[in-house]
Amino acid sequence: MKVAVIGSGTMGSGIAQVAATSGCVVKIYDTNQEVLDKSKTNLEITLSRLVEKAKIDETEKLRITGNISYVHTMGELSHSDLVIEAIVENIEIKRKLFSDLESYVSPETILASNTSSLSITSIAASCKKPERVVGIHFFNPAPLMQLVEVIPAIQTSEEVLSFTTKTINDWKKVVAVAKDTPGFIVNRVARPFYSEALRIYEEGMADFTTIDFAMKTIGGFKMGPFELMDFIGNDVNYAVTESVFASFYFDPRYKPSFTQKRLVEAGFLGRKSGKGYYNYAAEMPKPNEDLSLAKSIFDRIIVMLINEAADALFLNIASANDIDNAMTKGVNYPKGLLAWANELGIKWCVEKLDNLYNEYHEDRYRCCALLRRMSKENKTFFN
Ligand code: NAI
Repeated sequence: MKVAVIGSGTMGSGIAQVAATSGCVVKIYDTNQEVLDKSKTNLEITLSRLVEKAKIDETEKLRITGNISYVHTMGELSHSDLVIEAIVENIEIKRKLFSDLESYVSPETILASNTSSLSITSIAASCKKPERVVGIHFFNPAPLMQLVEVIPAIQTSEEVLSFTTKTINDWKKVVAVAKDTPGFIVNRVARPFYSEALRIYEEGMADFTTIDFAMKTIGGFKMGPFELMDFIGNDVNYAVTESVFASFYFDPRYKPSFTQKRLVEAGFLGRKSGKGYYNYAAEMPKPNEDLSLAKSIFDRIIVMLINEAADALFLNIASANDIDNAMTKGVNYPKGLLAWANELGIKWCVEKLDNLYNEYHEDRYRCCALLRRMSKENKTFFN
């Protein structure tokens, strides 16, 4: 298969590597020559490291690099079967690119966007043949993360959706099909991991390191919320939260936090700037290891995550399997949230949410109707 990747930054380079590894002939294009050159050099470095670690041999490295060519004009992408766009996250720029693209490629070429927050439907509407447009959302780093969200726009044809799903499976990735709604699955369902942790901190219930300790020790998460926000970058994480909040017509459940906003304003972006919630030049602070405190922190965050996952299922954003796969394979959660709800008990989840709602009288703690219905009917997820 002939694949074109537009944008050779972090995501485009990773996607090109995935497609080339699976045997596709890949052309990668960027308007910035320096970034394009860097993409080539970085792939050399990445593959050489894999050779050193004996993960691949020299022949395999040559096969992969031989499958990728770096091109300087859109005209060179004309014979592609599939084009994946990974340029700047701006709806007007993406719409312009997609409408231009149609004059270069054949009418059968499938056009995909790797956007993590924009409407695929709006991008598709910029094309003469919107039925060929689809969302293919990889996670960073694309060669390592197993999950890919596939998002049909309302115009996308069944054929394009099944071709896309099959292709991504052939690339040895796990597909989760998501409705074209803000944040798709992962960036919507994961919001409380950050927002409830921030809220707990703001109320003074615990400090960053104690909240991280709770989620790792009781929940088995690899990273706590504050470590993860520092890792992602507070600027990036805050921008996603703001965008999801605005896209949901300011539903208070997705309200961003002033604590994180101030960090961004101060330039405390996390690991990349040396300082975020933590100061990476100093010794790490010690958590309060009181397990009953840790358990109440964990309970509050996990039940909010479960509520979000249940709501995504209730509103048909994705299937139960895809929602659980998305969180375990897209962001490495130790368990799927719906499976976790079964384990903790649906009744327990409803009671916990109702207690929070009764205490705060804030809409963010409203319990999903599906959970309440299931609790009344003694039902569990997946049956
Ligand atoms: P990046 O900034 O590393 O790369 C974007 C590249 O696109 C730049 O090299 C730029 O020169 C190029 N570009 C801009 N306009 C162009 C045009 N008209 N034609 C050709 N090239 C053009 O960005 P990154 O992080 O790779 O993100 C790309 C897309 O993937 C965005 O839509 C982003 O939201 C999405 N995404 C990003 C993830 C991440 O963790 N970084 C995760 C999943 C999706």
